[in-house]
Amino acid sequence: MGNGPLIPILGFLTCVAFIYLSFGDLWFDYKREPELGFVSRNGTQFVLDGKPLYVNGWNSYWFMDHAVNDHSRHRVGVMLEAGSKMGLTVCRTWAFNDGGYNALQISPGRFDERVFKALDHVIAEAKRHGVRLLLSLVNNLQAYGGKTQYVNWAWQEGVGLSSSNDSFFFDPSIRRYFKNYLTVLLTRKNSITGIEYRNDPTIFAWELINEPRCFTDISGDTLQDWINEMTAFIKSIDKKHLLTVGLEGFYGPKSPKRLTVNPEKWASELGSDFVRNSESPNIDFASVHIYPDHW
Ligand SMILES: *[C@@H]1O[C@H](CO)[C@@H](O)[C@H](O)[C@H]1NC(C)=O
Ligand SMILES: *[C@@H]1O[C@H](CO)[C@@H](O)[C@H](O)[C@H]1NC(C)=O
Repeated sequence: MGNGPLIPILGFLTCVAFIYLSFGDLWFDYKREPELGFVSRNGTQFVLDGKPLYVNGWNSYWFMDHAVNDHSRHRVGVMLEAGSKMGLTVCRTWAFNDGGYNALQISPGRFDERVFKALDHVIAEAKRHGVRLLLSLVNNLQAYGGKTQYVNWAWQEGVGLSSSNDSFFFDPSIRRYFKNYLTVLLTRKNSITGIEYRNDPTIFAWELINEPRCFTDISGDTLQDWINEMTAFIKSIDKKHLLTVGLEGFYGPKSPKRLTVNPEKWASELGSDFVRNSESPNIDFASVHIYPDHW
């Protein structure tokens, strides 16, 4: 009695709410999202909004590649949503693709805007799902180009000093190629969110290189020198984000007491050293890669 008309009104409102929830994705305005905080570090603790942050996450290296084409782009959002629903907070993915299919960097200093827009999409989607990204900047291995591609470019342009893959680390021309890529990437303005990558708190951290090895200099000095130079260069452009190396986690000759912990002797002869490399002044945190089926 008396509340008769309320029921159809509630019904109507429920219907509006339902339609809004169903199409909310289409209306999402990235630029009007509340500001996220940057993840920082205090001693050995990650910190977010003044509180300790414990990271749990996963690896989906393929996001940018799949975001290039219309038929596969949706997989990025599906994966981020699945991770987010499981309570995962950080996803590691590639922010590079050098030469080859769907390359971000087509050749030194030439970038494919179509692929950059795909990376913009990955970052915008991560933000939308409340997941931060650990973005890796180059591959030691040949997948997606890697240091071999840089060495080939230098060779093709007639400036390469050596055909060794490891000249990626010491050849001045190749160092310039890589620094140029870093500058373009870090100052990229996201075409969806309008935020420069270096100012985007959706990015949890930069990972300098996936699984670096430089076995042509097992003293480790060549890799260490490259890490020192490139990390200082990154921090000269971007002081807001954390930075890690991307090591597998093997001990080298500068950590003689720990060599017995390596899987086998070869692991101490790769020119890398978990302790020394991680102690580089601009490195904020360390990580290891675990392959339980191999070692
Ligand atoms: C860092 O952590 C220490 C020890 O927990 C605390 O006393 C200090 O206030 C923290 N510093 C900042 C900048 O949060
Ligand atoms: C360069 O790296 C690729 C793959 O990582 C390997 O197949 C090739 O043999 C390497 N070349 C040299 C000269 O080490």
